[in-house]
Amino acid sequence: MGVHILDAMSREGFEEVVALHDRRSNLRAFLAIHDTSRGPAFGGVRRWAYYDEDQALRDVLRLARAMTYKSALAELDAGGAKLVILDRPDLDVEAGYRFLGDAIERMAGRFYTGPDVGTGAHELGCLAERTRFATDPGPNGPGELAESTVAGVVAGMEAALQLLDGAIDWPRRTVVVQGLGEVGAGVARRLVAAGAKVLAAELDAERAASVAAELAVELVDPSREYDPPCDVFAPCALGGILHDLTLTRLHCRVVAGGANNVLARPLHGDRLHERGILYVPDFVINAGALIRGATFHLTGERESVDSIGRRVGRVASEILKLAAEEGAPPARVAVREAERRIEARRRGPHLVDR
Ligand code: NAI
Repeated sequence: MGVHILDAMSREGFEEVVALHDRRSNLRAFLAIHDTSRGPAFGGVRRWAYYDEDQALRDVLRLARAMTYKSALAELDAGGAKLVILDRPDLDVEAGYRFLGDAIERMAGRFYTGPDVGTGAHELGCLAERTRFATDPGPNGPGELAESTVAGVVAGMEAALQLLDGAIDWPRRTVVVQGLGEVGAGVARRLVAAGAKVLAAELDAERAASVAAELAVELVDPSREYDPPCDVFAPCALGGILHDLTLTRLHCRVVAGGANNVLARPLHGDRLHERGILYVPDFVINAGALIRGATFHLTGERESVDSIGRRVGRVASEILKLAAEEGAPPARVAVREAERRIEARRRGPHLVDR
């Protein structure tokens, strides 16, 4: 069934959803601004060959809302948004991104954007030609975005292990990393350096081989990626991967990784909880790049990767402890806490978050 857009917006508190079309480049895109109570909305541009408009619309709404939660839990003076491009063979990519740059500039700082799946340095360069409100991929930009995410993901894993066992103890741990892209390979690199045993699955055979040549990781066939017994399963590929079919295959104690929207539906977070698996919510643990990018845009400062890691680890630890005290699934607790902080700011900017 199609998305009833106004119903969805009012149910989930969206401020604005814009459909964009450019005759010249054949660009088709949706921009969703979820919430700006805490400040301007931040969210990257995802370019993906969506099956249809409906799938793209669902994705942009889910991703934008998660960005609001990420900002609130990271205590940024920022809100959440997302832009998705429906990728098609007839899209003139460069002209399309320039068109988007003009549209973003007209929003005059209500929306800031940056990288995501399908939007790398080249595409960001096209945006940056037209708007001040996109991440500059060069030396004048925030830099080290993926590294910031990686530091947060590892710190979130450590918060979970510390809570479960009172110790991190990497040399005795096994981690399965799903996806060896920028984030997954970075996580694997840090874990190997810390002495952990790392198993990794990557669909792109060439990429898998090149990471395995550099790092002591054991490659797992992607068809078996959910099966190996491990301490931590780290989803660092696509979203929506934990559902009825995959969840029952997991033999881990913790799920903690960089991917957005890991749970196919919120109830799958409840299922993990029932199975005794500690889930570190995605929008808590993968906020590193947002922290680095938003802080840079809002203050001009480049917060260090280590400081970002510590910051994400602190928030993860806080949410996991709260969930443990209540005996509740961490994803539910994280959503509630994020909404509480957003609501506090709506009532008045003078109120503190906690
Ligand atoms: P990427 O595109 O560099 O890497 C993803 C990798 O996963 C690709 O190499 C792909 O071949 C692989 N893959 C896809 N499905 C797979 C499967 N089922 N099994 C094994 N491998 C599979 O993306 P990147 O930047 O590393 O991001 C990873 C995830 O983290 C994405 O979901 C992204 O939205 C999210 N994320 C990334 C941030 C960043 O700073 N780059 C920030 C926050 C979230």
